[in-house]
Amino acid sequence: MAFVKMQLMYISLVVLGVFCLYISMYSLTPFKGEPFVFKKERGNFLQLPDINCRQDPPFLVLLVTSSHEQIFARTVIRNTWGKEQNVSGKQIKTFFLLGATANRDLSRLVAQESQRHRDVIQKDFTDAYFNLTLKTMMGIEWVHRFCPQAAFVMKTDSDMFVNIFYLTELLLKKNRTTRFFTGFLKLNDSPIRDRHNKWFVSKSEYPWDKYPPFCSGTGYVFSGDVAGQVYNVSESVPFIKLEDVFVGLCLAKLQIRLEELHSEQTFFPNGLRFSTCRFKKIVACHFVKPHNMLNYWQALENSLGEECPAE
Ligand SMILES: *[C@@H]1O[C@H](CO)[C@@H](O)[C@H](O)[C@H]1NC(C)=O
Ligand SMILES: *[C@@H]1O[C@H](CO)[C@@H](O)[C@H](O)[C@H]1NC(C)=O
Ligand SMILES: *[C@@H]1O[C@H](CO)[C@@H](O)[C@H](O)[C@H]1NC(C)=O
Ligand SMILES: *[C@@H]1O[C@H](CO)[C@@H](O)[C@H](O)[C@H]1NC(C)=O
Repeated sequence: MAFVKMQLMYISLVVLGVFCLYISMYSLTPFKGEPFVFKKERGNFLQLPDINCRQDPPFLVLLVTSSHEQIFARTVIRNTWGKEQNVSGKQIKTFFLLGATANRDLSRLVAQESQRHRDVIQKDFTDAYFNLTLKTMMGIEWVHRFCPQAAFVMKTDSDMFVNIFYLTELLLKKNRTTRFFTGFLKLNDSPIRDRHNKWFVSKSEYPWDKYPPFCSGTGYVFSGDVAGQVYNVSESVPFIKLEDVFVGLCLAKLQIRLEELHSEQTFFPNGLRFSTCRFKKIVACHFVKPHNMLNYWQALENSLGEECPAE
């Protein structure tokens, strides 16, 4: 009997040992290979938009992260808030950021779309969700190299509603020209260490317990000069696949402080129920489906001359 007990204990110990070994190997795997370092010069531009910023400097450039298959979302944005606009005499331009795909059909479709609309910025990195940092940095590189004359730049996503009228009004009111960065401020965020979470970040990817102050990647706005400065320091901060945190690390290094655009909340990364009057006083709202985009935009355009009752 005692022998059987011993045997059982022995087996349990072996099982426990193997389990521990497995767990430690599992958590060590990210250490394999060299840590990734961001390289400014990496990759070539495949598509460039048609704009001469020196001749015709835009007031605001909107950079929209997008993936190949989101053709309808891009069409809807081109017909709503991404339409070329002249707001109070200020020129606003919208461009789409894309990587490369191995899918030949999608690749060809995007090339055609780019030829037609001349509003695609594309480089040859693999287009994947966790390459968003490369995508964002491509946009920042593009501003730095091809459009440093832009007074302001907004980086946003294809499932966002952007009220370019209110954004322009607030930027003019704010009257800032350099070292300006705004959006939905996240001043005290920590890495998510739960493996099952979509935004899980391991200790080997990011060993510290706090993120620097950053703005939600759903939509942030900065003065044009910030692009060159962020691009400049991007090789000397630790790389992280979360693009908004990565930009936050660059800003911390540059000692650029995040600022609110307005005393009221205007960026809504968690979405917001639509009403015309509500959307007249916001800058950006997340989780807007393409068919709603058209309705919201129409309502907003139709109400431009109208006042809403004070709350
Ligand atoms: C924008 O519109 C104003 C009139 O509202 C016009 O005077 C100005 O030339 C236009 N600017 C551009 C860049 O198209
Ligand atoms: C990101 O792009 C690079 C360069 O094309 C590629 O080597 C890498 O596998 C991509 N990352 C992901 C997560 O797909
Ligand atoms: C904007 O700021 C500058 C100084 O930076 C000042 O001269 C100018 O009057 C300001 N304009 C407005 C409209 O407040
Ligand atoms: C980039 O950094 C270099 C060296 O620190 C500096 O001389 C240059 O002005 C910076 N460029 C920009 C656009 O900030």
